[in-house]
Amino acid sequence: MLKCENVTFCYESEEGENRIILDDVSLQIEKGSFVAVLGRNGSGKSTLAKHFNGVLVPQKGRVYANGMPTDEEKNLFEIRRSVGMVFQNPDNQIVATTVEEDVAFGLENLGVPYEEMHKRVNEALKSVGMYEYRHKEPHLLSGGQKQRVAIAGVIAMKPECIIFDEPTAMLDPKGRKEVMETIKKLNGEMGITIVLITHFMEEAAKSERVIVMDKGKIVMDDKPGKVFSSVEEITRLGLDVPAVTKLCNLLIKKGIDIRGEMLRTKECAEALDTLLREREC
Ligand SMILES: Nc1ncnc2c1ncn2[C@@H]1O[C@H](COP(=O)(O)OP(=O)(O)O)[C@@H](O)[C@H]1O
Ligand SMILES: [Mg+2]
Repeated sequence: MLKCENVTFCYESEEGENRIILDDVSLQIEKGSFVAVLGRNGSGKSTLAKHFNGVLVPQKGRVYANGMPTDEEKNLFEIRRSVGMVFQNPDNQIVATTVEEDVAFGLENLGVPYEEMHKRVNEALKSVGMYEYRHKEPHLLSGGQKQRVAIAGVIAMKPECIIFDEPTAMLDPKGRKEVMETIKKLNGEMGITIVLITHFMEEAAKSERVIVMDKGKIVMDDKPGKVFSSVEEITRLGLDVPAVTKLCNLLIKKGIDIRGEMLRTKECAEALDTLLREREC
């Protein structure tokens, strides 16, 4: 779905020097996959995201979205349609005075006929669980609901892939849960390729693959269980591991026989329960 070949990108600093933000990044993201991207602030995650739909193009190397090189002007329209983006602040993504109009906005710009537009807007709102709110004013919604409306706006364009750049950073726990459930559904039921940039380790644990960036380079790329079991390396990279993984690793250090790759609370609770029962015997 997405491919970066030796991508190097620099910004000019205030002193006029070139600062390398992405440093020879090569990466391939398969269609239908769910990939999380982690990394401390300033590691280049958002810059990488902006390369996936041609908002930025590399100074060296090449990016392909759905097979189309992003440095060819003629591809940009189709790339932006097939690779959608959802950002951190839901308020910045709302453009209309009702939920329905907001979701329709992108389609109006594409010149989609009214009937088709109406159908797509309704489908998109249903798939994020916001159909009943279609006549409401977006500013009256909760953060999680606004973010789901923003997601519906992207889905209405029928994208093959959606890049989420810290979509839950400004939400309360309830909103975070709503948005994560929506993301899982888009991937699981609709087959949309997901790239989720996040600083919540529990969210990354829900993906199939975790990429960790540091200083513009990819430094880890593996299944979440594998990445998070490298507690020392993760900590050195300025990140945390999910609470469950942390607990298991502390127990292992105390000589307790439990797996270090656990990610889910339920799984961990069951393992602890078994251990405690064995001790009672
Ligand atoms: N428009 C810009 N002009 C100059 N420097 C920028 C710009 N956008 C980002 N940067 C710099 O690029 C680096 C990486 O930024 P970013 O990709 O936003 O990181 P992340 O999303 O991982 O926090 C940061 O040091 C940031 O200051
Ligand atoms: Mg960022």
